[in-house]
Amino acid sequence: MLRNRDNAYGLIAILFHWTIAALFVGQILLGLATQWVASLALQFTLIQWHKSFGFLILGLAALRLFWALASRRPARPRDFSRTEWLAAKLVQASLYVLMLAVPLAGWALVSTSTLGVPTFAFNMFVIPHLPLARSEAAEHFWRDVHEWLAYGTALVAAGHMLAALRHHFWLGDGILKRMLQPGAESPNRGTVKGQKAAGR
Ligand code: HEM
Repeated sequence: MLRNRDNAYGLIAILFHWTIAALFVGQILLGLATQWVASLALQFTLIQWHKSFGFLILGLAALRLFWALASRRPARPRDFSRTEWLAAKLVQASLYVLMLAVPLAGWALVSTSTLGVPTFAFNMFVIPHLPLARSEAAEHFWRDVHEWLAYGTALVAAGHMLAALRHHFWLGDGILKRMLQPGAESPNRGTVKGQKAAGR
């Protein structure tokens, strides 16, 4: 099952979710590592990998957003209150925005840097800089924006993850399973849509 259904995620949405989640965690660690290493040569290499993966995340996040907008949204499980569901959807919407905003801010950072170091994406081709004026003040500004957005995303994603784990282990509903197995519905409780269809 490739596409989402009324009550379930399809394989493509699931692959996007876990690929970007894994890349995102790796990218935070790589970003921190670039600040910890002492050797300048190693730092240069790590920054090039960090930029390459950032562009990969940006591309995947744009495709994912396009796919999500063109897909059905799996329905609200029956045991989710309207408020909890709205909160979950707001968090997910903000993650969509942040997945794009963090790498875009990184792109603005390298584009405004007075060092003007090119980005060699995966050592294969050069990604052009954005047409922004270079200055130390602009570079400083975009570095702060990039860092704070990255930490903000980590915080929002951690809340999102804890909520998913709470539902799985504490409430025992099928919400996490929906994101692990294509076509899996919330098995214990069904969805609001299913309830309406059954006339309950
Ligand atoms: C271990 C970590 C994570 C877990 C356990 C997790 C779990 C889940 C689950 C269960 C859903 C589906 C909710 C539903 O059925 O409606 C979901 C959706 C989503 N997650 Fe995660 N997630 C994790 C990490 C992340 C990260 C790091 C990001 C982004 C940086 C992310 C972004 C999203 C988005 C945008 C959706 C909405 C998908 C859609 O409906 O189009 N998640 N997540």
